[in-house]
Amino acid sequence: MFKTLKYRLWQVKQELRPKLCLKAWEDAIQTLTPELKAVVEKHSITEKAHLLRLFEAITKDMTFDGSNKDLYLKLALVHDIGKTEMRLSLFFKVLKAVCNFDFAKHDKRGANLLRNLGCSEELAFLTENHHNKNTKNKALAKFQYYDNTL
Ligand SMILES: [Fe+2]
Ligand SMILES: [Fe+2]
Repeated sequence: MFKTLKYRLWQVKQELRPKLCLKAWEDAIQTLTPELKAVVEKHSITEKAHLLRLFEAITKDMTFDGSNKDLYLKLALVHDIGKTEMRLSLFFKVLKAVCNFDFAKHDKRGANLLRNLGCSEELAFLTENHHNKNTKNKALAKFQYYDNTL
């Protein structure tokens, strides 16, 4: 309970005072197609910093390997892409961090956006399910752990 509250407060702080290493961000998105790059560039600095923390964690995590690693590195950069279509006000962002409820349904929006951009169904499916707590996919569960803590 205390840990969750501490994490939620940290999230609010990241929202209010984001920090992003632009060079690291630009290096990370080099792996994306020009179309995907253009969309993820629409994210706020706070969001980009979150995506980059995930990208770096998965880069270091040796339990992701081979094509699975490439897939999850891409997922790190695009899983919240649905947020670029419907921006929440600061009030709703803080409310979302405190209540953990997504008013914009960014997981489904993001998956549809990826399908429209011609991405693989696997990437779209993982994006659609990146907040699905009932997943039996161990790699996705690991990804969710990073997503919920970074
Ligand atoms: Fe998300
Ligand atoms: Fe996320």
